[in-house]
Amino acid sequence: MEIIKDVLKKEILMFKLEGKVSYLIPFDDDHLNNPTYFTWLRNYEVVRTINCLNYICPISFDEVKEYYENLIKSKNDMFFAIYFRENDKFIGTIRVNRINWYTRIANIGILIGEQDYWGKGVATDSIFVIAEYLFRILGMRKLVGNYMEINPGMGKVFNKLGFKVEGKFRKADSFEGEYIDHIYVGCLKEEFNWKYENISKNNK
Ligand SMILES: CC(C)(COP(=O)(O)OP(=O)(O)OC[C@H]1O[C@@H](n2cnc3c(N)ncnc32)[C@H](O)[C@@H]1OP(=O)(O)O)[C@@H](O)C(=O)NCCC(=O)NCCS
Repeated sequence: MEIIKDVLKKEILMFKLEGKVSYLIPFDDDHLNNPTYFTWLRNYEVVRTINCLNYICPISFDEVKEYYENLIKSKNDMFFAIYFRENDKFIGTIRVNRINWYTRIANIGILIGEQDYWGKGVATDSIFVIAEYLFRILGMRKLVGNYMEINPGMGKVFNKLGFKVEGKFRKADSFEGEYIDHIYVGCLKEEFNWKYENISKNNK
């Protein structure tokens, strides 16, 4: 089993996952040391919806480095950099974590750090690409995700790809002085929207 996981990990490191408007490559030391990445994590508009106090506080470079190193070390996590196809710009990250190789369930989280690239279909495209990889190549049978109630765009992205709301933790998040709900979504392999066609809004 260990060997299989190592082989899969190696395969992933050589992988470039191609979408219609974006592509994903493994996040590496160059991304970590790219000042742009750290800027996103210090941009309140970007991190306010990720429900993580560390980021809102704001986070130090050493904390980010530790987070990245733990992800890389783990056999149950993957971390990718998202690029915009049209100009090869590094614009965000996507993380697959809590991969359970026994139940074959994995959790997906995304951050598009460059705000100018919001609303161009990148999150939908990137999650489609990673989900296709997780279902088809890594044999996952269910993918899950979660988001804050004040992030309806994230709900729309998941919904377009076939994820269903499975429940919510009421008033579980703290947001600008209010307590709000946290929403959990899931998608079985057979529910996934395989026919999803992402056409860049720039090309419409
Ligand atoms: C949330 C986020 C991932 C969305 O990324 P994106 O690339 O802009 O998403 P897409 O363009 O694929 O789709 C967003 C959809 O939500 C819609 N949307 C955006 N804001 C919305 C809002 N306030 N209410 C309703 N819909 C909204 C968009 O119109 C779009 O739908 P459409 O394609 O039907 O027009 C991005 O804004 C982001 O990274 N935010 C900061 C970090 C974050 O919140 N990460 C998620 C944590 S769970």
